[in-house]
Amino acid sequence: MNIACGAATPAILAELVALESLCFRHPGERFNLRQIRSLLNNPRACVVFAREGGAIAGWAVGLLRRHSPRRASGRFYALSVHPGFRGRGLGARLAQTVLGRLRRRGARSFSLEVRNPNPAALGLYLRLGFRPAHKLPDYYGPGLHGLRMRK
Ligand SMILES: CC(C)(COP(=O)(O)OP(=O)(O)OC[C@H]1O[C@@H](n2cnc3c(N)ncnc32)[C@H](O)[C@@H]1OP(=O)(O)O)[C@@H](O)C(=O)NCCC(=O)NCCS
Repeated sequence: MNIACGAATPAILAELVALESLCFRHPGERFNLRQIRSLLNNPRACVVFAREGGAIAGWAVGLLRRHSPRRASGRFYALSVHPGFRGRGLGARLAQTVLGRLRRRGARSFSLEVRNPNPAALGLYLRLGFRPAHKLPDYYGPGLHGLRMRK
């Protein structure tokens, strides 16, 4: 499967909006058109797509935060894999690609937020070395709790 850094085109935007609605049931968990466009245009964002047969199979986003000229951290910000491509290691590959790119840009520590419970994502992040830091009550909307993890 081909993993490549994508550019913001209207075609990709529409595909990502569709992927987000397929992957997340609650609107509070997914990114909308405006948010995706802004991520694609954000110079601090590292956006990675996976394509197979021309269609988007998954995407991941990381944000670089520079605390000082010599200190930076990364926020692992988005990950979704089309249901037809899950369970083959694509989620892990996308995440590792984004974390690697953030590391090359200077990030030495990482954080993320994940819905609690989300067993597939939690298992993946634990395997990547993230550890639970604290709970985020109602983070994704009323009754939709989150968990912050750090690595
Ligand atoms: C989380 C997600 C990105 C994983 O993508 P993926 O391509 O299936 O990921 P991988 O194949 O690398 O790993 C999936 C792992 O989760 C495991 N898994 C799948 N469903 C699971 C479940 N319900 N409970 C526990 N583990 C589960 C798989 O067995 C696999 O583990 P293994 O590598 O030890 O076999 C995908 O499920 C997804 O897009 N979910 C909806 C969006 C989402 O929740 N994104 C995360 C937002 S923080």
